[in-house]
Amino acid sequence: MAAVEQQQENPLAEGLSLRRTPDACALVIFGASGDLTHKKLMPALYALMLRRLLPPRFAIVGVARTEETDDGFRDDMKQAVQKYARDEFRQDVWDELAANMHYVATDFSDEGGENTLAELLGRLDEERELGGNRVYYLAVPPPAFPAIVDALGKRRSATGWTRLIVEKPFGRDLASAQQLTSLLREHFTEEEIFRIDHYLGKETVQNMLALRFANGIFEPIWNRQFIDHVQITVAESIGIEGRAGYYEAAGAIRDIFQNHLLQLLALTAMEPPIDFTAESVRNEKVKVLRALHTPGPKSVVRGQYGRGFIEGEEVPAYREEKGVAADSMTETFVAAKLFVDNWRWADTPFYVRMGKRLARRETTIAIQFKRAPHPPFEETSATELRPNVLLVHVQPNEGVSLAIGAKVPGQGMTIRTVHMDFLYGGAFRTAMPEAYERLILDTLLGDATLFTRADEIGEQWLLVDAIVAAWQRDRPGFPNYAAGTWGPPSADELLRRDGRSWRRH
Ligand code: BG6
Repeated sequence: MAAVEQQQENPLAEGLSLRRTPDACALVIFGASGDLTHKKLMPALYALMLRRLLPPRFAIVGVARTEETDDGFRDDMKQAVQKYARDEFRQDVWDELAANMHYVATDFSDEGGENTLAELLGRLDEERELGGNRVYYLAVPPPAFPAIVDALGKRRSATGWTRLIVEKPFGRDLASAQQLTSLLREHFTEEEIFRIDHYLGKETVQNMLALRFANGIFEPIWNRQFIDHVQITVAESIGIEGRAGYYEAAGAIRDIFQNHLLQLLALTAMEPPIDFTAESVRNEKVKVLRALHTPGPKSVVRGQYGRGFIEGEEVPAYREEKGVAADSMTETFVAAKLFVDNWRWADTPFYVRMGKRLARRETTIAIQFKRAPHPPFEETSATELRPNVLLVHVQPNEGVSLAIGAKVPGQGMTIRTVHMDFLYGGAFRTAMPEAYERLILDTLLGDATLFTRADEIGEQWLLVDAIVAAWQRDRPGFPNYAAGTWGPPSADELLRRDGRSWRRH
């Protein structure tokens, strides 16, 4: 007992504990001067170092086009850690991490850069006994992939293992994703490829598996007989944050729906895997994606935000954002009614919605159960009673809440909906690790469970391609929702037609 309490009070003894020590290796980050490296990767590596979860013999090599010295790179990364890390900055931890950091400037258009990188890695292998083990992180725009992948493939280390982390977007449709997979497979096996969907690294997303498969009470009712419908919301209040170049070509459907949203749906709908290995979990997810019915045009709604107010401040319309075309038809919101055509879910709608500049940041999965078949109370006594809902708060306010009917104290029989809440903060008293910490650690350990397999990505694109193809036939009047609201009226209509409504906010 004392040990458990002690562990809970140690702020560092949290979710990310070591199952085994990762092998010595070098982590090479392509795109080391980019946003992702500053905001996510380096803070994650610092968090892992602080918790002593990195291998004892380890090296980080940053690669980018900008000319920079090792020391210049370290200074830049130090500032990134000071600005973005979730932990307090500790000079001793930083010094230890920085001592393992190196930088190579190259754009891979010539042999020179490749040679420099290969020489450095060879030297690090000898000095630190890294055994030729490599993790390559492709945090670069997709057009840069072919040259890098080719160069890496041709210069594979003769000893040790190699793993390749590929950031999203993985292609922009099925054909380009397949092309990319073929390119990677020329030099790497599927087991060596780790495709990132950072939502899978989120604690609360993994908790969906714990909730469903570590408890006996949910699984028997987790089906069409007891569940009326499911609502998945990925709402953001932020806009496109200066990423017009990327977002104009992607839109909400490729940015969120194709990956994060469909992964949340797959984890909600999948069958219990026989074990928690990468293959078993991914086999079950891919079956759900394969069973997704292509929605008809009336079942998909798209929107684009106009001017509006977020937290009392006026924000510009999407078309007024820097770098966005004045007549842009890119969608910043998508809502859809989806069906999983299998025995568990037939005829049970999964209503999903996602968008930028919505009223607030909120990612939730709401499982709405059917009404009690015959409440023996007078109708008037239960006017404030809603059907049971199991609500998984992915973020913020991470936790799970169950809406149940309860008697209001007093004379008579008035029934109202109340909530039973489990909040991560209260239950575990530890800060939540960032998704990237978990994902980097898993790659070092060679565990691909929380990464997307080629066939999953393929199924995701198949659905998106069909939706996008149907969109070519009409031109909605954009903008059709004001920033700071919950999307276009047609999104409400999508549920109203079925006699339902989006969960109250
Ligand atoms: C990224 C998208 O994958 O996820 C961004 O490209 C989005 O547009 C982000 O803002 C949301 O991630 P999170 O972890 O903040 O929910």
